[in-house]
Amino acid sequence: MDNINWSELAFGYVKTDYNVRCYYRNGKWGKVEISSSEYVPIHIAATAIHYGQESFEGMKAFKGKDGRVRLFRWEDNAKRMQDSAEGIMMAEPPVELFKEMINKVIKMNMRFVPPYGTGASLYIRPLLIGTGPQVGVRPADEYLLMIFVTPVGPYFKEGFSPVSMLITREFDRAAPLGTGKYKVGGNYAASLTSIKKAHDGGYANVLYLDAKEKKYIDECGPANFFGIKNNTYITPKSDSILPSITNKSLITLAEDMGLKTERRPVVLEELETFDEVGACGTAAVISPINRIKDDESGKVYTYGKDPGEISTKLFNKLIAIQNGDEEDKFGWVDFVE
Ligand code: PLP
Ligand code: COI
Repeated sequence: MDNINWSELAFGYVKTDYNVRCYYRNGKWGKVEISSSEYVPIHIAATAIHYGQESFEGMKAFKGKDGRVRLFRWEDNAKRMQDSAEGIMMAEPPVELFKEMINKVIKMNMRFVPPYGTGASLYIRPLLIGTGPQVGVRPADEYLLMIFVTPVGPYFKEGFSPVSMLITREFDRAAPLGTGKYKVGGNYAASLTSIKKAHDGGYANVLYLDAKEKKYIDECGPANFFGIKNNTYITPKSDSILPSITNKSLITLAEDMGLKTERRPVVLEELETFDEVGACGTAAVISPINRIKDDESGKVYTYGKDPGEISTKLFNKLIAIQNGDEEDKFGWVDFVE
């Protein structure tokens, strides 16, 4: 801890002092417990480890110039975790419990909140798992909500520099009527083979097509996709992608800057027409994309080697609000104190 080089931090796990935990038993949530252990004792037949009853969230806290710690849109993450819980039949954590737990875990790990100006932030990872035993395939009757934090740098090592993406039809991450719209572990397990294929080919990640027709753009590894042309911010509408809170925020910022915005199906061929494209998410923030290769047709789509003008403006605006450098006129920021 004493020698964290904040500006060189990667997106990874750093041990902190405490995490928080709360059990759902006998139909109700219990008391919030504070733990300094990195381990979780779990029943050998818990549904999380057999049948994937697991959902997680990701959000960030930022230290401002004024030293205050800002939390970005936590309530949206709380609601999305409730949706994920409902989607795979887990107990839904109340928003108030979620809030109490995030505030507690941040306060107990204040020394790990990266200083202002380092580009790093405190990543907050809530995790909901089925802990009750089942051998037949059915939901658990006991759940555990845990939250740990870890200081992080950029998800893609390039930071705010363009990355390349691979389109492959060899693997899907989510089925058309499956769980792609929930933040559940199974989707990420299903993405590992395609991500390895992308990494082996020198690409930062995978640009997924819709699983049914392979005709439309879905999303970009652990981030949503957007394209910009004709002063318009365009992002895919699909039932099998995660409703990204960053993307939703960028739509608001784009409109505020006078851009038009469209959320609609985006056909693969439209890639040729964009001036700028990028991936967006909590971890990725905005990662501009400079090259997309379709491994079946061999077609390569290229964009500017530097981040585009509109992507840069959106990026700067978003991080200025998150860091408290600009007025929070949309009410996205809460203070931890
Ligand atoms: N899509 C997937 C599959 C993700 O894992 C994430 C990360 O949370 C996102 C998109 C971006 O969502 P958000 O902006 O809410 O972090
Ligand atoms: C996030 O952006 O918060 C994510 O959860 C991405 C993650 C899968 C690494």
